[in-house]
Amino acid sequence: MKAKLNLPLPDAESLARSDTLKARILAAIRQNGPMPFSEYMQRALYTPGLGYYSGPAPKLGAEGDFVTAPERSPLFGQCLARQVAEVLDALSGGHLLEFGAGSGRLARDLLRTLAELDALPERYQIMEVSGELAERQRAFLQAELPPELFARVEWLAHLPAPDWRGVIVANEVLDAMPVERLRLTPDSAVRLGVDEQDGELAECELPITDATLQRVADGLRPLVQPDRHGYVAEVNLNIHPWLKSLADFVEQGAVLLIDYGFAQQELYQPARSKGSLRCFYQHRVHDNPLLWPGLQDITAHVDFTEVAESGFDAGFRVAGFTTQAHFLMSTGLLESVPTDLPVVEQLRLAQEIKTLTLPDEMGEVFKVMALTRGIDRPLMGFQLADLRHTL
Ligand SMILES: C[S@@+](CC[C@H](N)C(=O)[O-])C[C@H]1O[C@@H](n2cnc3c(N)ncnc32)[C@H](O)[C@@H]1O
Repeated sequence: MKAKLNLPLPDAESLARSDTLKARILAAIRQNGPMPFSEYMQRALYTPGLGYYSGPAPKLGAEGDFVTAPERSPLFGQCLARQVAEVLDALSGGHLLEFGAGSGRLARDLLRTLAELDALPERYQIMEVSGELAERQRAFLQAELPPELFARVEWLAHLPAPDWRGVIVANEVLDAMPVERLRLTPDSAVRLGVDEQDGELAECELPITDATLQRVADGLRPLVQPDRHGYVAEVNLNIHPWLKSLADFVEQGAVLLIDYGFAQQELYQPARSKGSLRCFYQHRVHDNPLLWPGLQDITAHVDFTEVAESGFDAGFRVAGFTTQAHFLMSTGLLESVPTDLPVVEQLRLAQEIKTLTLPDEMGEVFKVMALTRGIDRPLMGFQLADLRHTL
């Protein structure tokens, strides 16, 4: 087999696993007809035992396919912890619930810093859709945390009961939810899907039969102003029901969402007329989501205007929106670095700070949004720059 897109070939075992998943997807297409892209993405990422997140692929970190902020530096979790501590203080206690905890590094850094700040949550709860990752998180946290901190961690099988108070954190979780792909032209809109062609997966166009999706397509057209070549836009229809499910149990608290994305006006620029869908495979980025299902991450930029509107509709206040760089600066990124470190350590920390904050690294494309309920005080993370007016 020849390497596609100049990517390194997977090993034989990984390739066999991907072939099994592809065969299942093709069988579903043969049985039910072409599937919407969102269904393909759900299967490619979350099929138990075979999907990218639910299977044995290494995923995060140097040996994996991509690196998130908590993987880059513990400074990220230390800053986030100060914001969490402020909210827990306003609530006089409460829980901390992390969605999609990845390797467990963010949980470790949050718990360690909250312990130092004497602001530990009653419980550190983790809601993780991937059983494989939940097992890795358990082993990692047990090895990294002292027993009294590890004892506070619990993995939830269901969302909490409705009298819940505390802080919810989700770093790079919205971008891992399956998206719909729409192709808009001045006078038409189609839903992109996946079909079979000569025994292989192939992109196809499907009519829009769903009223919600038609409304979304009609709403997007004036924004993207497509020409006759068309404009591809990704739409995450899971955001609204997901935020609604949070509003159903949060009596009082804050939801801190960190992800790469933009306000709508900036997201749907002519330069992104092919969409923002990207695939990560062994630290290479490309745009073919049909390649090696289960072996690569598939993500799309987050539309933060949609997040804000859905959050408001669900009953939250949109309490802040800013860049990751401004959020980290506002929560003490620079002040927290010790000055008495050996030079090598200082250089390492300086490099980590650059990666987290520089505009051409993670500083600007990553945003932080806070949704609150029953908390009126301004949040420290948004004191340097609040970009809510851009939403
Ligand atoms: C890109 S990874 C980010 C991991 C980690 N938060 C980090 O920053 O390193 C996405 C994570 O979200 C999880 N995930 C996706 N959808 C989820 C959902 N609806 N509920 C909980 N976890 C979810 C995935 O299994 C995975 O752990």
